Amino acid sequence: MGKNWEEIAEKIIKKERAVVERNRGKIPYTAKNHVFDDRSDKKDICWWTNGFYGGTLWQLYNATKDELFKDCAKELEDKLDAVFMDYNGMDHDAGFRWLPTSVANYRLFKTKESKNRALLAAANLAGRFNMNGNFIRAWNDWGDDRDTTGWAIIDCMMNLPLLYWASEELGDPRFKAIAVAHADTAMKNFIREDGSVRHIVGFNPATGEFDRDYGGQGYGEGSSWTRGQTWALYGFTLSYIHTGDRKYLETAIKVADRFAERIPKDGLIPVDFDQPDEPWYIDSTAAAIASCGFITLAKVLTEGKLNDCITAANGVSQSDKYMAAAEKMLSALDELDCDYDPEHDELLTRCSASYHDKDHEFPIIYGDYYYIEAIWKLTGRELFIW
Ligand code: GLY
Repeated sequence: MGKNWEEIAEKIIKKERAVVERNRGKIPYTAKNHVFDDRSDKKDICWWTNGFYGGTLWQLYNATKDELFKDCAKELEDKLDAVFMDYNGMDHDAGFRWLPTSVANYRLFKTKESKNRALLAAANLAGRFNMNGNFIRAWNDWGDDRDTTGWAIIDCMMNLPLLYWASEELGDPRFKAIAVAHADTAMKNFIREDGSVRHIVGFNPATGEFDRDYGGQGYGEGSSWTRGQTWALYGFTLSYIHTGDRKYLETAIKVADRFAERIPKDGLIPVDFDQPDEPWYIDSTAAAIASCGFITLAKVLTEGKLNDCITAANGVSQSDKYMAAAEKMLSALDELDCDYDPEHDELLTRCSASYHDKDHEFPIIYGDYYYIEAIWKLTGRELFIW
């Protein structure tokens, strides 16, 4: 018998009501001893994940219409204004911060201040575009001997929807043109022949020439950092949705097919598909993000009636194959990695930021966000954020 996703959604809502009530005012990244930390003070306000709890609150509001979630989401969005006062705190992750907060608010209520914030963020993101190499620069200088001026990363595919949104909102094609130029560069330089994906590519910032790639947060050069694979899977699907350009759909399919064939038997996703057997680190954020990507891609294929021309082996349509992949990973998260105890702040327990970090398998807020988004997609509760 299939999973009862409705029941899971209700369980999440029940838990989150308690979590949100006792964590009012916080912007969490992780939980220690089942208690959320708080990144809302001056020192941490620019942290790249600070939009995800806002997104969680808006998804909960969309599902329940409970004013508590709306009020807390608005408070969090206000706090992010401090980021605009720190040039170095602004980076390629503008989409991760202002799509789940200000754009979400604007989509629901047409709030003027939210539109203003999201447009400022989009303009800053567009300003990171390197015209020599047609890419959006990742990160700022790190204050060490690494020269990152020519670096681009696959994660940025998920920030492009902020540019698509700005163009649509303003009726001005400039933002979209930058997003498309970056997506084309990513397609050419990040996607390997077998459908796996690089994390970091360094270009010569003055000539735009490809220099080299880096292992980044994965196991090493040439490996497949799973979260990077998911940013490409979901990101190219979204670029297809926003542009209708078939080459992005084909790229998403190529990445999705490679990812699907590497999902382990138990459905739990490692930090890197090429990591050694020992130690075997899990990253449940990758499972949650990939599920969102697979479900969205399946929907695009079904609604666009594109299954007829892209059919998988053994008569299973591509979209059924992607739905099965998502359901396998989400079932594994539900059964093996989810903490539904309303007394505990975190949902997913085994997330990993980076293979070579000291710590692995702990709660991370974007894991919770994407898990909820995926369950909402399956149960018709989703607010479209990206
Ligand atoms: N965008 C950074 C990460 O996925 O960890």
